[in-house]
Parts: sequence; structure tokens; C-alpha cells
Amino acid sequence: MSHDQFQANTHIDAMLHEIRVIEPSDAFRAKARISRADYERMYRQSLDQPDEFWGGVAGELHWNKKWDRVLDWQEPHAQWFVGGQTNVAYNALDRNIGRGLGDKRAFIWEGEDGEVRSYTYSELLREVCKAANALTALGVQQGDRVTLYMPLIPEAAIAMLACARIGAVHSVIFGGFSVSALADRIGNAQSRVVITADAGYRRGKPVDLKANVDQAAKAVSCLEKVVVVRRAATEVAWDEGRDVWWHDLVDGASDQHEAPALDSEHPLFVLYTSGSTGKPKGVLHTTGGYMVATYLTTQTVFDLRDDDIYWCTADVGWITGHSYSVYGPLLNGAAVMLYEGAPNQPDWGRFWDIIQKHRVTVLYTAPTAIRSFMQHGDEIPGRYDLSSLRLLGSVGEPINPEAWMWYYRVIGGERCPVVDTWWQTETGSIMLTTLPGAFPSKPGSAGLPMFGVEPALMTREGEELGADDGGLLVIKRPWPSMLRTVYGDDERYRKTYWGEIPHVYFAGDGARRDADGYYTIVGRVDDVLNVSGHRLGTMEIESALVSHPSVSEAAVVGRPDAVKGESVVAFILLQDGHSADAQALRAHVTREIGALARPDAIYVAEAMPKTRSGKIMRRFLRQIAAGQAIEGDTSTLEDPGVLTRIAATAAI
Ligand code: WTA
Repeated sequence: MSHDQFQANTHIDAMLHEIRVIEPSDAFRAKARISRADYERMYRQSLDQPDEFWGGVAGELHWNKKWDRVLDWQEPHAQWFVGGQTNVAYNALDRNIGRGLGDKRAFIWEGEDGEVRSYTYSELLREVCKAANALTALGVQQGDRVTLYMPLIPEAAIAMLACARIGAVHSVIFGGFSVSALADRIGNAQSRVVITADAGYRRGKPVDLKANVDQAAKAVSCLEKVVVVRRAATEVAWDEGRDVWWHDLVDGASDQHEAPALDSEHPLFVLYTSGSTGKPKGVLHTTGGYMVATYLTTQTVFDLRDDDIYWCTADVGWITGHSYSVYGPLLNGAAVMLYEGAPNQPDWGRFWDIIQKHRVTVLYTAPTAIRSFMQHGDEIPGRYDLSSLRLLGSVGEPINPEAWMWYYRVIGGERCPVVDTWWQTETGSIMLTTLPGAFPSKPGSAGLPMFGVEPALMTREGEELGADDGGLLVIKRPWPSMLRTVYGDDERYRKTYWGEIPHVYFAGDGARRDADGYYTIVGRVDDVLNVSGHRLGTMEIESALVSHPSVSEAAVVGRPDAVKGESVVAFILLQDGHSADAQALRAHVTREIGALARPDAIYVAEAMPKTRSGKIMRRFLRQIAAGQAIEGDTSTLEDPGVLTRIAATAAI
């Protein structure tokens, strides 16, 4: 964000007040793992006696050598479980098999083409051991970086776990990233080995991943070996000295492998994420703290039970796929659903079909997906039996109350609590949520801090704000799964995360807190507007627009205005069968928030400019709103053509 914008974002006016409060059912509450009293006691202990609290949680897992100290904090560098030695893959697999879960399903995978494969914990351990031996035979050693550029197939998770097992550092690059993005990331991590597939399926078509790796390889000098999983049986170019088929390497490898004891601070993975400006950052996570925090949060936030079929729809290319499709649920011995493809393949009923077929009990997905489903109406999910569901989750962006209510009502049948979970690539695990069964939900509000998390709202100057005020969301003390550094750029780590506001972690979100202590994320502060001296979260205006029956999705940006500083410009998608009425929409926003939030211009678009991970690129919308030519790299967009089409329409 620009310095000016940052300076301005001290108090964020929080004007959209969601007043609905939804209590968990008595039936859910009666069986919930964590009651309100449990939460209060555990949260207090996590802050007042962190060594006892975290030592207790870590003690439920296997350590080859117990830690000497729980935390060593030399701001901004934390070490957790100092001196301890463990192995995350051992804890996720061998330990659970030792608890009698060997024959329990670990993964149930469905390909976009309908193929189903499943692995028990014992089968998964064997595959991971074979892959660990194969990588070792390839010369991969502790601390080496291995880049994964794969579709969401079981081999992706197997490769991650194999790296974790031998102490190699995986760097998963989402399969939708371009050649240049891939090359940058391979080069930044200095990976000698890339694991990929011939192709992955997306909306029925094979995406040629291997061909992209071939291209990227030309731009980097570090790459020595490319391991290729045969997924789609497409034609691939082959470099005899460099390329090796996964099945040739792995199938014949021994399925016995002894997991080495790794230092608690041994690097586990790097995951690249975009900042407000500049090139992507390689967020580094380490072994012990990440393991303990993902274990605890998966268990408590998703209220895990032995017989759950747990499905997090995130791709392994994102942090949610790391923490909540692979590590967290496997550490808990859960049965994990994985789905390779798009939510609308062959049609918008696909998720509901998967839930019905596999009797999924816990669903964790993103608001952007929920709004897409909502746009296509209640009738499609209505055709499926969703009665196996007992808990729903949301992550990735603020969920507007209308989408929350739709999810709760149409998907959850008003029976399933909805947990809105706020966290980031950098935080590694869930930081704010409303534990199901312990507290009522307030649609649109993430809720209360997780164990060990001490949030606050601050001004730019580090002045702490009170209840019912809005400000910058900060975390006041280190937590076990926090990022340790930016890979290869510790100075950037210092400046970006602990240097913007002295002595606290700050990573770009604005929020407000109500009298009950619930935090509502207002949006990134680089998406906050200043209209006539009032700062307004774009997300709030978007929520207001989306709560109008004619609007299915909205993105709001600021346009420089000589009188007001900035004025509000909205881009909307219409609900099927509705037309746009500018006057009605302005009146609606005025009603929901106030006249100052009223959009000056509204563009009706046929699609939003989204990245492949579903984030709307507001930067480009700002350029369109300001009547400027579109500048910058549009290659991360799902469909760059959307921009020119929006720019060619007249605002209403
Ligand atoms: C946003 C995804 C509101 C937020 C786990 C954060 C959310 C960024 C929520 C991190 C939520 C994520 N409510 N906003 N429940 N969850 N965000 O690194 O702006 O892909 O800073 O991690 O997403 O995105 P990331």
C-alpha cells in the first residue's frame, strides 16, 4: 500500500452493523468438543501460562526429543519448542497407525473426470515412504528445496509428506500460475528438483503442466531433475538426462522408511504469496510450531470426530490446502476428501454431488464459491441430499452476511454452525473464529481469537483502540505457526510484518471489534477508501450491494475526487433474471450504510477480474474507474479479457 493510504487508515469507520445472532443448536452444543467455559479457561491459560498451554498440546504429539523451552522470542524472530526434535510426517501417519487408525481412510480423492481413489493411513504411509526413498535416491537432502507444480491429485499430498519426512523443504506453486511466475519461484527457492504432472484437468480440459515446467526450466539454472506424474496421458516432451517418471522412480522404491528426527525449527515449507506491492514473498514455515498449531486448530475449529468425512475445497497450492487439506486433518487422523477440479464441472451441482456421494460431514470453502453457488439459485443444491453435513466453514475473504445466511440456510439446512475463519498465509493457522458449539455466530463477523492469539486494533502510531471502534488488526505476541521469515529476505520480513507498527505483527487488514469482543474484518487496508474524511471499507459497501436482491457480486474501489478525496465506484454482477437499477442500488447503499458510501458510478459487468485463486484484482478496477488505461501484469487473471469488456461499458 502507499504510505499516504497507510497514514490515512487510522480509524476505519465501521458503519455496516449486522445484527443477526445465530445460536448453535442444542444438539450440536451438547456434543461439541469445546464449550464456552472450556474456551474461556483454555484461552486464559494460553495467554497467562503459555508454556503450560502449548506444552500440553505439543505433548499430545510424538517428539523424538522433548523441547528445552517452549518459546524463545527475540523480536521479530521466534523459535518454538526450542531444542525439541520431531517429524511432521511421522506424526501424521505412523503415530496415527500406532493409535489403531491404520485401516481408516486418510484420503478419499475424486478426479474431475469422476475417478475415485482412496488411501488408508497404512496405504498412505507406504506411498509416502516410497516417495521419501525415491527423493533420497535422487539426491534430495535435508534442507533442500523441492518445487511442486501439480494438480490436486493424491501424489501432490504424498510428495508434500515425503518432503516433510526427509526434511526437504517443499514449495508448492499453484497449477494455475504462469511459466514466468513458476520460473521466478523455482529460482528464488533455488530448487534442484521439481515434481509435476503431465497435465491436470480443469473444466474438462487438460492443463499442460509439464510443458510449463519445460519452459520455466529455460529461465533458471538451478534445476536438475523433473519428476513427472502421469495423470492425463498427454504427449509430453522429454529430456532424458533431466526428466523421470514418478512411477519409474517411486513404484519400485522400498516402502520402509525411518523418519529422521528433525529440529523443531527445521524449515518445513516455503509458500509464495503476494504483498501489496513488489514481487511475491516466500513465506517460510517451520516444523514444531506449525505442526502443533494446525493440529490444535483443525481439531477445535472443525470440532473433529472420529467418523467425520472432512472436506476443505482449497487447492494444495494455497496455505489453506497446506494447513487444512493435508497437515491439520491428517495430524488428527481424519478422513479427508480431496477433489481435483472446478465447482461447476460438469455443472454447479458438483460439490453437492460429492457431499451426497461421499457423505461429507464438514465442508470448508470460500465466500467467492458460495456467492457463485448463490447466483445459480437454491434449486441446484436442493436436488441433492446434504443431510450428512454437520458443520460449515468459510475462509479467504470477508463473507458478506447475505452469503453467510445463504450458506447456513440452503447448504446447512439451518442445522450446521458456520465457522468464519480469519487467517493468512503468514499466520499458518486460523487466528480468529467463532468456535462452533461454544458461541453464537454473527454473520459476517469472524469472531474471537484462537488460543494463544492476542489481537488488538491499533492506529498507525500503535495507539490501541477500544470496543466498537475500527482500526488496523494486529497480533501482539508470537504464536507457534507464525511465519519465521521471508525466504532469502529477512529484512523484508522485519519491515513488512513487525516494522510497520512497532512491536506488533501487522499484515494489512482492517477490522472492528464489538462489545462482545467479536472481530469483523473490514478488508485489506489497501482496499479502504477515504470519502470526505470518512474511511470506509470497500468490503462493507460490497456487502451492502450484495444484500440487494439484484446483485450477486460486487467490487468497490475508490476514484480520486477533487472535492471528496475519493468517491465510490462499484462494479457489480447481476443475479440471474434481474436488471440493474442505479437509483435503487444507491438508495439501498444509503440505507444500509449512509449517503457517503453511495456509489458515484456503477458498472454492470459480466464477470469480475479474478485471480485463479478467486481474489478480485481491484488494482485494475481502480484504473478503469479512473478512466485510465489498464497497466500492469494481467497474466495472473483467470480471464484478462474481462477487463477490456468492463472498460468498454458505460457506468450507470
Ligand atoms: C483475507 C488465506 C475476512 C484477509 C487463509 C487476509 C479474510 C487474507 C478471511 C489472507 C476471513 C482470509 N474474513 N478476510 N475469514 N480469511 N481473509 O494469505 O484479507 O491467501 O489478510 O490466506 O485474506 O489471504 P491468504
